[in-house]
Amino acid sequence: MKTDVLIIGGGLAAMMAASKLVADKQVTMVLKGRKTEGNSWRAQGGIAVALSEEDSPTLHMEDTLHAGCFQNNRVLVDILVNEGPKRLKCWINNGLLFDKTLDGSFSLGKEGAHSQRRIVHAGGDRTGDRTMNYFSGQLRDKLHMIENCIVIDLIIEEDACIGALIQDEQGDTQELYADQTILATGGLGGLFQESSNDETITGDGIALAYRAGARLLDLEYIQFHPTLIVSNHKVIGLASEALRGEGAKLVNSEGELIMNDKHPLGDLAPRDVVARVLYSHIEKGNDVYLDITDVQKVDEHFPQIKDMCVRNDVDWEGKRIPVRPGAHFHMGGVQTDEYGRTSVQNLFAVGEVAGSGVHGANRLASNSLLEAIVFGERVGEWISGLPQTYDRLPSKSVQTSENSLKCLLPPKSDIRKQVTSALGVVRTEKKLLEFLSWLESYQIEKYQSITRNGWSKKELERSNMMLTAFLIAKAAFNRKKSIGAHFMQSEEERVEHESAFIKATVI
Ligand code: SIN
Repeated sequence: MKTDVLIIGGGLAAMMAASKLVADKQVTMVLKGRKTEGNSWRAQGGIAVALSEEDSPTLHMEDTLHAGCFQNNRVLVDILVNEGPKRLKCWINNGLLFDKTLDGSFSLGKEGAHSQRRIVHAGGDRTGDRTMNYFSGQLRDKLHMIENCIVIDLIIEEDACIGALIQDEQGDTQELYADQTILATGGLGGLFQESSNDETITGDGIALAYRAGARLLDLEYIQFHPTLIVSNHKVIGLASEALRGEGAKLVNSEGELIMNDKHPLGDLAPRDVVARVLYSHIEKGNDVYLDITDVQKVDEHFPQIKDMCVRNDVDWEGKRIPVRPGAHFHMGGVQTDEYGRTSVQNLFAVGEVAGSGVHGANRLASNSLLEAIVFGERVGEWISGLPQTYDRLPSKSVQTSENSLKCLLPPKSDIRKQVTSALGVVRTEKKLLEFLSWLESYQIEKYQSITRNGWSKKELERSNMMLTAFLIAKAAFNRKKSIGAHFMQSEEERVEHESAFIKATVI
């Protein structure tokens, strides 16, 4: 099959790119899950954008750079904060709704490391669901969407991407040719045992891009959200940072404040800082809670979180929610420029899978939906100006290539356990080396080039997880110094920490 533009993924960044293309081009979107699944649908906090009179793109830029530890690509941050308000206003004028106050102005939320109230939201904490409903309603009939399928590989001919080989819901393999292919597969939370992400998000885009020869950037920067909600020892979802923006506090079992003496911004310190503080409490065997006593109209403003708690036996009325940090967002990814172009011709990447450098070493809260809007539209606009390149189909069908060997693949639960231990909130050189040698015991080098035709969806997914984890571990090992979300602990510090823990438990 041939289409003009192939988009792999169906979240907000994919929708925004499609919005600029559907008028003139045939767009095919392939989704790993169903149309209403994916991280964008779950987004709670909202969209950070300088709209109020007290705010400005300059202030937004300063906060983004501070949170990102000044590792950001400044050109891209400049585009993000300056184009963001204009692009969002266009959609608002077209009918995209956000919550307002009684005087008719936008109700602006606050989250960690923001100097201003600047987060627009919809349905309280249902911003992702409302926004995705709006865009999928606008675009659904103008796109060809293929659900429940996995990409086996990108098809590369003469160093250019000309589409993808996919496995559909029935397990059949199809060649999908396209003039341009956009990777919008999201991040990699599913590599970890605890994550805020949708089940389908397992780092596939990075593995696909790498196998296609694309350059990758900053893979070691993985953000851990401090407050994933815990029920019966399991993570059930996210408690938005917006709760802390409205007065919720992190406390220990005695109700004592945890963040007060840790950072000048206290509970609203940058996410990497808060995640590390909570991690160290939990490592010592202590529980951590989000105390929501001081949040005004909490049921009205946070209905999604309330529902999640009530459905999962978390005592919402008791106003103390058990929380712990977990994988949330990947700042690194497939290297892109300001139009989402990768190092492979006709291959683009946008949204969380893209490693543009816009977020630096730690993303500022609620900048990801803004990134999806700004850079999604830019990719779409760029491609809409390009001529058709591939009228013909390649001479040789990629499906006829030699029979694929099978790799030995560990179960998903083992991969997650290993990744969590090596690539979590706190990393050590020793753990990274152990992880790399575990990967080598599975002949990881084969995953980079082995033909995968005839593999099941589960095998494809697990081999993507292994390859992506390997690439991140190498990147983490190579960055010796801690910065932002990449935190390396020395062996002495680790031993000291462990003996303090043992002492505390014995006493
Ligand atoms: C949150 O609501 O805390 C998450 C928002 C984000 O990751 O930007």
